[in-house]
Amino acid sequence: MFLRDKLNRVHDYVRISVTDKCSLRCVYCMPEEGLDFFDDKTLLSTEEIIQLARNFARLGVTKIRLTGGEPLMRRDICAIIAGISAIDGIEDIALTTNGLALARNAEALWQAGLKRLNISLDTFDATKYREITRGGALSEVLRGIEAASQFPFVIKLNVVVIKGQNDTEIADFLKYSIENPVNVRFIEFMPIGHDASSRDKTMWQNAYQSLESLVFEEANKLARAFSPLDFSGNGPSENYKIVGAKGSFGLIHPVSCNFCASCNRLRVTADGAIKACLYWNDEENIRASIFDFDAFSEKIEHALSGKPENHEMALTENEKNSYQLPTWRHMSQIGG
Ligand code: 5AD
Ligand code: SF4
Repeated sequence: MFLRDKLNRVHDYVRISVTDKCSLRCVYCMPEEGLDFFDDKTLLSTEEIIQLARNFARLGVTKIRLTGGEPLMRRDICAIIAGISAIDGIEDIALTTNGLALARNAEALWQAGLKRLNISLDTFDATKYREITRGGALSEVLRGIEAASQFPFVIKLNVVVIKGQNDTEIADFLKYSIENPVNVRFIEFMPIGHDASSRDKTMWQNAYQSLESLVFEEANKLARAFSPLDFSGNGPSENYKIVGAKGSFGLIHPVSCNFCASCNRLRVTADGAIKACLYWNDEENIRASIFDFDAFSEKIEHALSGKPENHEMALTENEKNSYQLPTWRHMSQIGG
């Protein structure tokens, strides 16, 4: 069975946010203050998350990513991973983390069955790191990456490129991909979290119109050839390898280069709402159906049937669709 929408997009990838809480407050993800966090009872339980993954596996889903907030803030994260990795049909289980708690968790995560780690790191400058994350310590993430590198995880670094903030460091990240067996992913800053009251308006002007040209320009300056890797199976990421590099680099540019036509993902928020698209407000809470497969399938079919063709991140306020609303959630409440 496959989850196919009306545009024939097959959905075999689900991102489950396990908490909206985070040890950081990254400028592109959360407001500095005034965000109400879900209480523990509102968050899906260990069993609910594992059952959710079982249901999705029955519907043809093969890949699950655990996101947050910061997933390592959940004490049961290894139990969740172990439960999901035991499910027939789930071929790939991944986790996105800010890396702060990785040094003490890397081994347990590996033992639990985690195979892939995406670690957020936007700068190698401790002062900038503190600014972007509103208080984080760079040394802790670097220690986390080092600890994770002791295990055979597939590691990706998420670099959200922000104008005037970390755009001078693209060459450093490219060099990092030469020296380390990781995939460095340059990500376009997405204007998500349309909350007029708390949204820092100036932030949204800091997005690059074309991240690709910026990254290629820096890659050319390194005077080493780079070539595309096979793009298939990588979802929205387009990957390249610099000749002789241990790692690779990738581009995720949902704003300047819309990839909605090949979207294969569904999202479940930490409070149990299904979102067919991260951008729009459309969602439905499916918590009550998790242990009733028929009701669950119906809700998923329903969410898919309303899945829009694309987002409107690149449009101006005037061009935007007036009868559909963008989501009220911040990125930290969706899971990226
Ligand atoms: N734009 C782009 N990426 C974002 N992330 C969070 N907020 C945004 C945003 N506004 C991504 C970052 C981070 C991960 C947790 O989510 O890549 O590493
Ligand atoms: Fe936390 Fe990641 Fe959001 Fe930063 S981007 S606040 S690390 S969830």
